[in-house]
Amino acid sequence: MTSVELRSDTFTTPTPEMRRAMADAEVGDDEYGEDPTVNRLQSLVAGALGTEAALYVPSGTMANQLAIRVLSRPGTEVLCPARSHVYQYELAASPQNSGVQMHPLWDVPDGIVAAVEGMTHEFPPVSMLVLENTYMAMSGAPTGAEEMRTLVGLGREGRLRVHVDGARIWNAAIAAGAAPSALTGGADSVMFCLSKGLGAPVGSLLCGSTDFIAEAREQRRRLGGGMRQAGVIAAAGIVALETMVERLADDHRRARQIADALAERWPGSVDPATIHTNIVCAWLEQLPDDFIARLADAGVRCGTIDPRTVRFVTHKDVDDDDLTRVIKAFDALRAA
Ligand SMILES: Cc1ncc(COP(=O)(O)O)c(C=O)c1O
Repeated sequence: MTSVELRSDTFTTPTPEMRRAMADAEVGDDEYGEDPTVNRLQSLVAGALGTEAALYVPSGTMANQLAIRVLSRPGTEVLCPARSHVYQYELAASPQNSGVQMHPLWDVPDGIVAAVEGMTHEFPPVSMLVLENTYMAMSGAPTGAEEMRTLVGLGREGRLRVHVDGARIWNAAIAAGAAPSALTGGADSVMFCLSKGLGAPVGSLLCGSTDFIAEAREQRRRLGGGMRQAGVIAAAGIVALETMVERLADDHRRARQIADALAERWPGSVDPATIHTNIVCAWLEQLPDDFIARLADAGVRCGTIDPRTVRFVTHKDVDDDDLTRVIKAFDALRAA
């Protein structure tokens, strides 16, 4: 029997419909702007995110790095939440690629104000703010429309350019019952991933104004991210957007069930009330010794995102039977 895979929603495999669409995709040379399937995906996404344009790129990391490259200035700071992907999980790419210093914020609104005020006291100049919705390392916490507008507004008051890492913005949209375009706060750019909960095999979209996307396209080429008959993979992305969004609610329900089961058996390991999307982060110190290895032996795979935090991520390839197996594995660990 295969394991229940909860390490990441990036383990999702393409659906039969995606595979058929990939086989049948009309293609052209995307570096010439002539792949009709890529162009269709980009227009669909720009419409959904309410931006003038969009660019299909190989990964979420590349989308974030392109945004930082285009919107920041070398020799300045980029503000970001302290546990954000751009700060903790991109191997210090931004200092290397864009010559910026990342400035992590524990308290995001106060931190923005303080960093902007700091510029008048000869603290480093700040050019940009990155926000993350959903906030992966905080159990995938979604940020609602009003709060996003407030945060982007604080950035604007400080004359900062703003990018939203919306790798899982569709999860945020389902959790908030809002359109994804309402959850970007009117930022200069937003990216999201097709290759996570939406189940497509490859790709992310970077969205923004026509001028921004033209610059991002140039930078994508400079970084070697230009693609040719990318319609073959973009076709799966179109199917993902058309068929995989509404079902994210099931993933959210199952994540909450995992959190409830953990909290019942090991109080203090996680607060289920904080689980609104498809990610559960729990404290390892509140869980039995060798928790991850012993669960793996029982056929349940989960992973860490830092030395103290175990993460479970639900997705389309985890169903209710799998959930039953997970809960049985918890029971067996508790009884041991
Ligand atoms: C919040 C967030 N942003 C960006 C990324 C990067 O995406 P990719 O793995 O496609 O580079 C991830 C990946 O897990 C993520 O969780």
